[in-house]
Amino acid sequence: MTDINKSIHNAVMVREVLTALHPHPEGRYLDATLGGATHSLEILKASAPTGQLLSLDVDPTALARGKRLKKEIGPRWRIMESNFRHIRDAAEKSKMIPFDGIVFDLGISSDQLANPSKGLSFQEDGPLDMRLGPKANQDALTAADIVNSWNKSDLTKCLKNFGEERFAARIADAIISRRRIQKITKTKDLASVVASVVPRQNQRMRLHPATKTFQALRIAVNDELESLRVALNAAWEILAPCGAIAVISFHSLEDRIVKQTFKSFADAEVSKKPILPSSQEIKQNPRARSAKLRIAYKQNQNKLCPEVTLLL
Ligand SMILES: C[S@@+](CC[C@H](N)C(=O)[O-])C[C@H]1O[C@@H](n2cnc3c(N)ncnc32)[C@H](O)[C@@H]1O
Repeated sequence: MTDINKSIHNAVMVREVLTALHPHPEGRYLDATLGGATHSLEILKASAPTGQLLSLDVDPTALARGKRLKKEIGPRWRIMESNFRHIRDAAEKSKMIPFDGIVFDLGISSDQLANPSKGLSFQEDGPLDMRLGPKANQDALTAADIVNSWNKSDLTKCLKNFGEERFAARIADAIISRRRIQKITKTKDLASVVASVVPRQNQRMRLHPATKTFQALRIAVNDELESLRVALNAAWEILAPCGAIAVISFHSLEDRIVKQTFKSFADAEVSKKPILPSSQEIKQNPRARSAKLRIAYKQNQNKLCPEVTLLL
């Protein structure tokens, strides 16, 4: 169960993010995904005593924890409840534009996964909700709404497009058969419906058979891919010359969007290949194994940006 006072989330690629952002005391930074606040706190430490940071999240638990930590830091740290899709509005409200560095650490935290009331885990039984917070989507759509009302074609598309699930059609059939008998309202119900139709040889793999289904539903509920596209474009506009955007993604759908969006930026110096966590980090934090970091630096026509070569 999540402890509001203490995050169990182990943040990934902290050293690499700091190298990319290169925080300094005159700088202004934006952490679009506060979570357990490790990245935020490290940016604050590296930019002490006067560097400023704006941190956003949609999860009330993460925000409450962050606000408690903020008491020790003071006014140079602002924390706002905001979907990063609206990063520009939040930034304007903070009056901190332009930013010298912006970080996105995508996906969900271990605190959210361990909180059964969010319905994100097939290991903890909880309501099939999956919204990361009240501002995570605009239509209050939940995972239960999707599995109990979408038709076969839409369900299959969702599982295929957002989960890259090979057995999407079969899982959609199983969901529809089950809901004819009884509504699917709990995470474990859904996990067992999926496990009943995913072939045995796949069940021997390390991934739980419902992993991709849960990923797909979470992405659909929180409109994660479109939010990311909108947010990256807006983040580029509020970035100062010589500033950097660093994005950590955890699956290929996100990474593709980051790569393509970065490519579309004029005046960007972009890392060609994603930066991966060290083997030592993966050993210590297995969640890091699927992390990929991409960085885009905003070139400055008038002077050479000193940090640009650091991680490219
Ligand atoms: C992987 S965690 C971030 C961990 C954080 N970097 C740390 O140091 O602990 C991702 C966080 O992003 C938040 N998040 C996901 N989508 C979001 C969105 N569209 N807008 C704002 N926050 C979002 C989640 O609620 C979660 O707290």
